[in-house]
Amino acid sequence: MKTLLISTAVLLTTQLFGLSNFQSSKTCQKCHPLIYKEHQSSQHKKASIFTDPIHKAVWDAHPLKKKELYKCAKCHTPNNKEAMAALKEHKKYLPQDNSASREGISCVSCHKIESIKHGEPSNTNILTKDAKKLFSARKSEKDQKDKKFQLSSEFFGLVTKKSGSPYHDIDFSNELFYNGNVCMGCHSHKENAHKLKVCDTKLQEHPNTPKENCITCHMPKVKGSFTTMYDSKTHRYHGFSGSIHQPQMLAKYVTITMQKNATGFDVLITNKANHALLLHPMRIGELQVSIERNGKTTTLKPVKFVRVLGKANHPAPPWVADKILKNTQIQAKEQRKIHFDYTLQKGDKLSVALGHHIISTKVAKKFGLDKDLTKFILLKEEHFDVK
Ligand code: HEC
Ligand code: HEC
Ligand code: HEC
Ligand code: HEC
Ligand code: HEC
Repeated sequence: MKTLLISTAVLLTTQLFGLSNFQSSKTCQKCHPLIYKEHQSSQHKKASIFTDPIHKAVWDAHPLKKKELYKCAKCHTPNNKEAMAALKEHKKYLPQDNSASREGISCVSCHKIESIKHGEPSNTNILTKDAKKLFSARKSEKDQKDKKFQLSSEFFGLVTKKSGSPYHDIDFSNELFYNGNVCMGCHSHKENAHKLKVCDTKLQEHPNTPKENCITCHMPKVKGSFTTMYDSKTHRYHGFSGSIHQPQMLAKYVTITMQKNATGFDVLITNKANHALLLHPMRIGELQVSIERNGKTTTLKPVKFVRVLGKANHPAPPWVADKILKNTQIQAKEQRKIHFDYTLQKGDKLSVALGHHIISTKVAKKFGLDKDLTKFILLKEEHFDVK
């Protein structure tokens, strides 16, 4: 009975004020506490210059800062009303340290995406104008375009049944929430002034499918109810594992095997993702190999995977670059074979570790960033006994 009373109160307030496109995630916390907590730990929550030191460092060096045009808001702080209004009207705006900026990419930044406009320099999220509507996916109710809160009594009023949410309506019919393309307003590509795609997920080559897409890999089903008002065994993980936050959750999408041959051995890495294993040009992938023989360990020279932007054959920052100088990142669905000129013997124990550095030591020095960001982060490790 108590919950019913609370629900009715919330129902009234939303009917009066609607659900803004710039709503704080805090308003969702009381009914979706597990999802809220995970979201707080994600890079989506930490996407502003006040919460992501790397984003801040690059912004501080960016020519747009001198022009006072924080165009990054489109994807990094879409929940900030002033920043988004300035962007729309091509007006000057510098990021302000307030709660709206610190929301980063909030719950409504995703759940109000109705469609995506494709284009250059990047795609654009089109949010619904319906103040009460949120989009989501539920296969069993895919034909529900406007699920409203309902109370019904059964058994002559002895049992009251609820369905829907007292705070918002739900549209379960939006395909983007089933095939993962809801992520592509921000994650597809970004072109600079020289028409170079500084970021490119290249999804046209390996499209999302209903079975395997951005959602199935980065938002796996984990234990716990998605709301306090009903019981569900699982919910979709909203911490968004990636190269910074909990990469090990993604280890199962990479396989590492080893083959001994006449001139040494090969390590084979298979990337099951439909995008290059690392996407951001600041990331450096690394493969570490060591061999233990008679109690002694030999470490081989690590192999690096990079994507270097440049101009006139020299590395250059993303706003200056006009070509890709080098790209050795492991591509979508690729199996990479890496040869080592080292003759293995029976009884050797081989250890192989695949991981990355968020930024290089050179970049850390140049931007005055914390050394901690340069350390090796493990994605997956394998051990092989040589027979
Ligand atoms: C079209 C959307 C979009 C715009 C506009 C955009 N970004 Fe990003 N940015 C992203 C996405 C998506 C990621 C995460 C992708 C990845 O890790 O590969 C990201 C990641 C980053 C990172 C890496 C963050 C980290 O913690 O390592 C930096 C730095 C960055 N952006 C800087 C900027 C700056 C500066 C601007 C504005 C001048 C900007 N971005 C504008 C979408 C965008
Ligand atoms: C980066 C985009 C994004 C953000 C941010 C986001 N969500 Fe989601 N959320 C999704 C997608 C996509 C789904 C659909 C997954 C599915 O059911 O297949 C989803 C599913 C859900 C569900 C459905 C149930 C389930 O099984 O998990 C709820 C409830 C939810 N989100 C609430 C929230 C709340 C509350 C926040 C903020 C604390 C939030 N979301 C932030 C993208 C997002
Ligand atoms: C007063 C409680 C309450 C508040 C506040 C609330 N929700 Fe919900 N929400 C619910 C309930 C209950 C459901 C389940 C409805 C159903 O299953 O019929 C739900 C369902 C959802 C779903 C769809 C779930 C699915 O299965 O796909 C999403 C997405 C969602 N909420 C997001 C949000 C976001 C974002 C906010 C904050 C802006 C929010 N909710 C605030 C109670 C609430
Ligand atoms: C409104 C724009 C936006 C949308 C929509 C969006 N993202 Fe992001 N995403 C970003 C930005 C910006 C970053 C980088 C934040 C930072 O580190 O500063 C990011 C970072 C990430 C990361 C890297 C996390 C890490 O720890 O390295 C993953 C994974 C990710 N997003 C997955 C998704 C998925 C999956 C979806 C769709 C369900 C999605 N995103 C939707 C903007 C967006
Ligand atoms: C088959 C599983 C799979 C699918 C599908 C998938 N990813 Fe990933 N994603 C991964 C793996 C594995 C990594 C690598 C993590 C690492 O190296 O630490 C990753 C990394 C990322 C990163 C961090 C990249 C960086 O350089 O920091 C982002 C952002 C991301 N994925 C977004 C997406 C988006 C958007 C989609 C949908 C187009 C998607 N992913 C689809 C498995 C997947």
